Amino acid sequence: MLKINLLTGELLQADENPVFLCWKNSFEEVLATRLNKYFPQLAALFKANKFVADVDQLLVLTYVDESGLTKQFFFAGLGAPETEAFQNLENLRRAICWVVPRAKKLGLTTIAVELENANCYEVDLAELTSQTTMALNMADYECNEYKKPEINEDKIRLNAATIFVKENLSAAQVGLTKGQIVAESINWTRRLADMPPNLATPFFIAEQARVMAKSCNLATNIFGPEKAKELSMGGFLAVQAGSEFDGQFIELSYKSSNPAAKTIVLVGKGVTFDTGGVSLKPANYMKGMKYDMSGAAAVLGAIQAISKLKPEINVIAVAPMVENMPGGGSCRQDDIVVHYNGLTTEIENTDAEGRLILADALAYAVDKHKPDFLIDIATLTGACVVALGHFYSGLMVNDQALADRLIALGKVCGDWLWQMPMHSYYKKAIRSTFADQSNCGGAAYGGGSITAAKFLESFVGKTPWAHIDIAGTENAIPDSAYATKLSSGVGVRLLVDFILSQK
Ligand code: BES
Ligand code: ZN
Ligand code: ZN
Repeated sequence: MLKINLLTGELLQADENPVFLCWKNSFEEVLATRLNKYFPQLAALFKANKFVADVDQLLVLTYVDESGLTKQFFFAGLGAPETEAFQNLENLRRAICWVVPRAKKLGLTTIAVELENANCYEVDLAELTSQTTMALNMADYECNEYKKPEINEDKIRLNAATIFVKENLSAAQVGLTKGQIVAESINWTRRLADMPPNLATPFFIAEQARVMAKSCNLATNIFGPEKAKELSMGGFLAVQAGSEFDGQFIELSYKSSNPAAKTIVLVGKGVTFDTGGVSLKPANYMKGMKYDMSGAAAVLGAIQAISKLKPEINVIAVAPMVENMPGGGSCRQDDIVVHYNGLTTEIENTDAEGRLILADALAYAVDKHKPDFLIDIATLTGACVVALGHFYSGLMVNDQALADRLIALGKVCGDWLWQMPMHSYYKKAIRSTFADQSNCGGAAYGGGSITAAKFLESFVGKTPWAHIDIAGTENAIPDSAYATKLSSGVGVRLLVDFILSQK
């Protein structure tokens, strides 16, 4: 984590390397006057470098003072203000993000960002500071622990940043504190998700959850196949059966001190590797399936942050962890399993395993906790990647007010959501000749993300519920300012903000 300081006053008096966030069409004049002492020919330098403050554009100019000291000046493009505030916010996050890897490449140890509390963001200074804090830390995340250290890697390291605000330091401080907590959890989540699946087994993740819960004062309830059998979690048992590693069912609870507090349950898909099982995936579709536990990592990360933010809400994170492997003990196509709530499923395709484990987890959560809201997050369907690509997660709900809330929160925090229909017609896609439901939507119906959600819907009863499909948004996001090749940590910000928004 970067150490982040807050200051008011003149950015240029600080020792750090300054970062100027530049609005297209209006940055030149302001900066030319202000930076005249450093770069008398600033306008010409912008021109020569073709810097026009477009989104994702970054210019670094080196200044050497009389004593030979150098400072790097960063100019990060915000683009022109857009009519949609959420786009301006994303452009701001991106501008900040691009600075971080460049500062590291230049061997800098600190940078200083000047924040403008502009109306076009439609958020207050605390939120803006929180967003800036998160962007800096998310951009700083790397995953190098499986490589031999580079020479001098430990010596030079960006370790601090200063955020300059014009006024209201105390409001900004609130945002900074929140931003640091959430960012730490996001990067914790990403580190779990980026781990190789030979190390991040169900048991390993359960251990990580235990350690985290202990340090965060969360109650734990973690069990394996034996207890799952007693609870009739037939879907969970079937999916873990082909693996050498037993499945682990993780439940962590944060209890508010307010006895009248509402309860929110978060459920995350935790498939540590998805080979497809006996319905084996082709090799090129299997690559990257270590990320099939990102939903689980996200709910664990979210409750970690919640334990530090201490809202007056009871929060429970549920993460069924399994490895989906072909093996002598694997479940098969044609198997029928009985879930926690007594519903039966015919397994028509063992690669549609996520919904099998989520079915038990959702039914268990409803029965045990009677939550006011239930949200699941899962890398559930390839169809979601086809439908929405990598910039929006799919959202399916049984409660429109909940969808509206989540969509609005997602716009601000950057975990964007796009709602898909849940019309009853789609339900027929998962009829089965032999069981209550099939785990695989009929090809004639298409809409693979929706039919998967219709399957899950049978396990939540009347509980207001939202299902978030992050198959496309968890990793490999083109042009991502947070690191295209690594886990994005999608969902943590959103889930935390949803819980904090609950009165
Ligand atoms: N984990 C996959 C979904 C996925 C695909 C996530 C691509 C991320 C990227 C899921 O378990 C799966 O395989 N779903 C099948 C369902 C089908 C067999 C009904 C799919 O999407 O093809
Ligand atoms: Zn699968
Ligand atoms: Zn899967």
